[in-house]
Amino acid sequence: MTDSKHKITSDQLRSRWWFDNPDHPGTTALCIERYMNYGVTLEELTSGKPIIGIAQSGSDLTPCNRHHIELVKRVKDGIRARGGVPFEFPMHPIHENVRRPTAALDRNLAYLGLVEVLHGYPLDGVVLTTGCDKTTPACLMAAATVNIPATVLSGGPMLNGWRGSERVGSGTIIWELRKRLAAGDIDYDEFLARATDSAPSIGHCNTMGTASTMNALAEVLGMSLPGSALIPAPYKERAAVAYSTGERVVDMVWEDLRPLDILTREAFENAIVACSALGGSSNAPVHINAIARHAGVEITNDDWQRLGHGIPLLANVMPAGAYLSEEFHRAGGVPAVLNELSSAGHLEGRVVTVNGRTLADNIDGCETGDEDVIRRYANPLVQHAGFLNLKGNLFDSALMKTSVISADFHRRFLSHPDDPQAFEGAVVVFDGAEDYHARIDDPTLGIDENTILVMRGAGPIGHPGGAEVVNMQPPEALIRRGIESLPCLGDGRQSGTSGSPSILNASPEAAVGSGLALLESGDRIRIDLRLGEANLLIDDETLKRRRERLAARGGYAYPVHQTPWQEIQRSMVEQHDRGMTLAPATKYRDVARR
Ligand code: FES
Ligand code: MG
Repeated sequence: MTDSKHKITSDQLRSRWWFDNPDHPGTTALCIERYMNYGVTLEELTSGKPIIGIAQSGSDLTPCNRHHIELVKRVKDGIRARGGVPFEFPMHPIHENVRRPTAALDRNLAYLGLVEVLHGYPLDGVVLTTGCDKTTPACLMAAATVNIPATVLSGGPMLNGWRGSERVGSGTIIWELRKRLAAGDIDYDEFLARATDSAPSIGHCNTMGTASTMNALAEVLGMSLPGSALIPAPYKERAAVAYSTGERVVDMVWEDLRPLDILTREAFENAIVACSALGGSSNAPVHINAIARHAGVEITNDDWQRLGHGIPLLANVMPAGAYLSEEFHRAGGVPAVLNELSSAGHLEGRVVTVNGRTLADNIDGCETGDEDVIRRYANPLVQHAGFLNLKGNLFDSALMKTSVISADFHRRFLSHPDDPQAFEGAVVVFDGAEDYHARIDDPTLGIDENTILVMRGAGPIGHPGGAEVVNMQPPEALIRRGIESLPCLGDGRQSGTSGSPSILNASPEAAVGSGLALLESGDRIRIDLRLGEANLLIDDETLKRRRERLAARGGYAYPVHQTPWQEIQRSMVEQHDRGMTLAPATKYRDVARR
């Protein structure tokens, strides 16, 4: 190995401890003999070739990532072509739509499992296969903790969904159809038939939901090859980039280019800016803050507002826009968005990326190929597309995605001549999703067009992992009258495919006794977007009495643990604003070197 970029020699490969260790011949023999049983040769294991892990996130249980089972064959070809030896291994499955009580519960579990594998086996580098929502942050969190050379390979989104000439976006259509079903416009059979229109091929969700957002942000962070994040899963370029990823990770081992060289504060700040321009998921702050914490960088929701709120929406992709991933990819994808942001002076281009070049080099000349799909900075879809970080006597932090505030919502709640940025209303409070479903249509609740719906008991502890339930649909009677949305607020999350301007991820959650736990239906809340506040309008004495009553009841009650992991996670998980990380885990860094 004589390439001038090489920083390490064969002797310095981590895998040598297992495969070529004269001080411990027994160890070497035991490691080699079993791997040879499935066809790896003695020469491959002992001649100083980099051993490259491939974290396989696809399985029958994770259909969004399942095509990685085929795709990684090209990764292996690329690894072998560059002189590496591939070892594929399974990750804990995470399927967003099906896992109960929530896929978010498994992000930290998959992270822990991956850390143990990357730390404990003879791997010099790793390709992290991603797709469905939480698979990407789980991989990046582990990459930061272990810090062996690593690159992300997204499986890519599904092709566009269509009904006739109308684009049908995954996830987003479900929210719309649920209203149509509630209004009596369609029946259950049509609901199911139309929902499946949105998923026409292999791949992850084709909207800018959490999956597309997190894969795009992995590329922005510099952790996947430029232009690769949102190549649709069935396209031939997807297989080509799988091959290049395999080749590249071998070079990264020789260059000793590691995740913590890439995951710098500047890289995370770029991700915040890009998330706004992409109209990215409201789950992104949770995951990005988590990845950052594992990389030793403290990113807060104040950073999201400070850096992200003023950034315009450039990607015209559902749920904030009109198109889907295929058009986005053809218009230039992530590099074209970054190039616009860079030209406007909003990107730090000097950060290094997995291909060994800077972000600025990677996006140089990547102009938008369709100015309707990827807008010019001067002609955006929405002027301020990022998140507001609201505070007040109910919680310390809650996010509102302002790019999805509809004209109707604006007219009804944010256009009072005296106070155009503020609204006030009486709340109806639900304790978890089941309570909401059981009672939403109860006429005695008195829900009208001025009600604010509150969801609590849906944070990382109340509903283990945090539930995507804050975007609540109004009662059917209201929908039939044309009132299709109400302001929603809560300590849970919402699906990244939802276009609801809810106030989300309220931290701390009710389960740890925040102001939300003291709310009662009928209370009035005032939300002021200009001041960035959400406050319960109540005198201090009443609030104090309620707090004492809550303490006397033993605090806010939440459901019992159903599994060992639920109990373990609840005992150490941090709040949404801190990335929902496991508190003891965030102090471990660079563990592969120990
Ligand atoms: Fe897996 Fe959307 S459900 S990506
Ligand atoms: Mg989701």
